[in-house]
Amino acid sequence: MPNTAVAFFISKFRELLRCEPSGFSVGARPRPYRNAAVRFSASRPDDFEARWETLQQTGLNAFLFPARQIPGCDLLSDSGTTTMTMEQWSQLLLGDEAYGSNEGFFALKEQVAATFGPAWQQTGQTENLFLFHQGRAAESALFSLLADLLRQRQPVPALTVDMLSADLECDLKALLQRKIRLLNATTEVRYIIPNNSHFDTTAANIEQNRMLPLDLPCREHVQNETDFPFRGNMNIAALRNLLENEQQRIPLIYLTVTNNAAGGQPVSLANIKAVRQLAEEFESPLFFDACRFAENAWFIQQREAGYREMQIAQIVSEMFARVDGFHISFKKDGLVNMGGALLLRQPGRMSAQYPLLADRLTDHQILTEGHPSYGGMAGRDLKGVVLGLQTVVRQDYLDHRIAQVKRFGDKLNAAGVPILTPVGGHAVYIDVDRFFAGTATTDSDFKGIALTALLLIAGHRFCELGVFAFGKYLNHQEFSPDPRINFVRGAVPRLAYEDQDLFSAAEALRILYEHRDRIPGVEVVHGRELSLRHFKSRFRLKDSL
Ligand code: F0G
Repeated sequence: MPNTAVAFFISKFRELLRCEPSGFSVGARPRPYRNAAVRFSASRPDDFEARWETLQQTGLNAFLFPARQIPGCDLLSDSGTTTMTMEQWSQLLLGDEAYGSNEGFFALKEQVAATFGPAWQQTGQTENLFLFHQGRAAESALFSLLADLLRQRQPVPALTVDMLSADLECDLKALLQRKIRLLNATTEVRYIIPNNSHFDTTAANIEQNRMLPLDLPCREHVQNETDFPFRGNMNIAALRNLLENEQQRIPLIYLTVTNNAAGGQPVSLANIKAVRQLAEEFESPLFFDACRFAENAWFIQQREAGYREMQIAQIVSEMFARVDGFHISFKKDGLVNMGGALLLRQPGRMSAQYPLLADRLTDHQILTEGHPSYGGMAGRDLKGVVLGLQTVVRQDYLDHRIAQVKRFGDKLNAAGVPILTPVGGHAVYIDVDRFFAGTATTDSDFKGIALTALLLIAGHRFCELGVFAFGKYLNHQEFSPDPRINFVRGAVPRLAYEDQDLFSAAEALRILYEHRDRIPGVEVVHGRELSLRHFKSRFRLKDSL
C-alpha cells in the first residue's frame, strides 16, 4: 500500500487524467506511443513561390503535386499513409515469401477470425478470405463477377425512368429518375446497389458494371443535424420503400462504416441491426465496406446507449455478426501501407444466393493478383496486417486517434471555419457551400479546387470531395452530386502527425476563410468531361475574383 503522501498524489494524478476521459484536450494525458523514426521535411515552409510554380506545372491538381514539396500536413488521404509500429516493421524482416500458402496467410486467417468474430473462421472446404492488393481491387472483382452471375439468370429489363414502380415514395423516385437519366446518357443499367453512401471508387466500380449506386444517407445527415451522433446511418424508411418496390433489382445491400462520403460519420449498431432486419425480410445479402470499422466501433462504444462498458473487439464482433460479407482496404484500419481483402461468410446469404461466387473470386485472383494465398501482397505485408488488426482495436490507440481528429476540428470551429460536425473519425470536412456563402460564386467556379490550390501554396495538401470530384459534365452541362456533397477534406494519416502540425494547417485555413471573398474560382483547362475526372483534370485560377 502506498503511504499517505503517495496515495494523495496518486489520487491527484488520477484526477488529472479523469478530466479528459477520452483525451479530447492536450495536456495531462501522454500520447499512447512515441516516435520510433522520423523523417525531416525535404522542403521549407516559406518556399511559397516554388510551390506556386509547381502548382501551375501540375495544373492545380492536388493528386499530381509532388509530396516532397509539402512541408506541412499531407492530408490528401488517410489511406496507406499510416506510420507503422516497430513491431510491424520487424514483421517485414520475418516475412515468408513462399509462392503458395506462406506463414502470413495462415496468421492472417487466424487474425481475421480473432478481429471480426468467430463467424469469419473458415469451416468447410470453401475459402472465405480473398486477398487483394487494395480495397478497390476487391470491389472491382466483386461487382464484375456479380454482374456476370446476374447476367446468367433471368435478367430484369433495363431500367428506364418510366419503369420505376408507381409506389416509390416521391423524393426517392425523383432521385432515382435523375440518376437513371444521367447514367442512361452513357450506359444501360438493370440493378441498384443501395448504401448509406458509396465512396467514389466504389460507385465507379458499380457503374462500370452497369448498376446504379444509390446513396441513402439518413435524414439527420441530409438536414445537417450537427448534434446527431450517427450521421453515417442509412435512411431505413427509404431503404424499405426501395426494397418493397424494386426488390428484384437489388442484388445486395451495403453499409459503409464509417461513412466516408458523408463526412467520416459513424453508423450505429441499431442502424446496422435495422438494415439487417430488412435484408432478412427481403432476402437480400448485406455487405460492409469496412475500411474504418474500428473507428466506427469506437463511436458506438462512446455514443450508443448500452455499449460504454463493452470492449472495442466485442463491438466489432457484434457489427460483423450482422453481415454476409465485407471488403476492406487494409490501408485504413489495417494500419498498413498496402493491402485489401474480401470476405464471404460461409454459410451466409451472399454465398447461398451466389454459390459460384467464391470459386469465381479465386479464379479472378489467380488471373489478376497472383496465388490466392498472397493475392497481390508480399508475405511480409500480410504479417504487417496481422499486427495492424491487433493494434487498431486498442482502446488507447482509438481514444488518441479520434480525439486528435476532433481537436483539429475544434481548432477550425474556433476559427469560424465551417466544417461538418460532429467531427468524424478520420478527417475534417470543410463545408465548401458554407465557406463561400455570401460571396458571388456558382458551382462552376469550383471554389473547392481553388481552396486546395491555395492550401498547397501554404504548404498543406487537402482533397476536394465535392462538386468537382462527385459531379459530372455531360452534353456541355454540369451535374452536381445528388444527394449534394461539397467538401474539402483533410484526412488525418494514422500515427503520423502531432497536434502542432494539424494546427498549422488550421491556421492557414483561418486566413483563407477570413479572406474568402478574395479567393478566385478556377477554370477547368483539361478533363472536365472525363470519368473519374478529379484524378486527371487540370485547372487554372481565374484572373478576376
Ligand atoms: N471504400 C472506402 C469507404 C474508401 O474510403 C476507400 C478508399 C475505398 C473503399 C477503396 O480502398 O483505396 O484501398 O482501394 N479511400 C481512400 C480515401 C482512397 O482517401 O478516402 P483502396
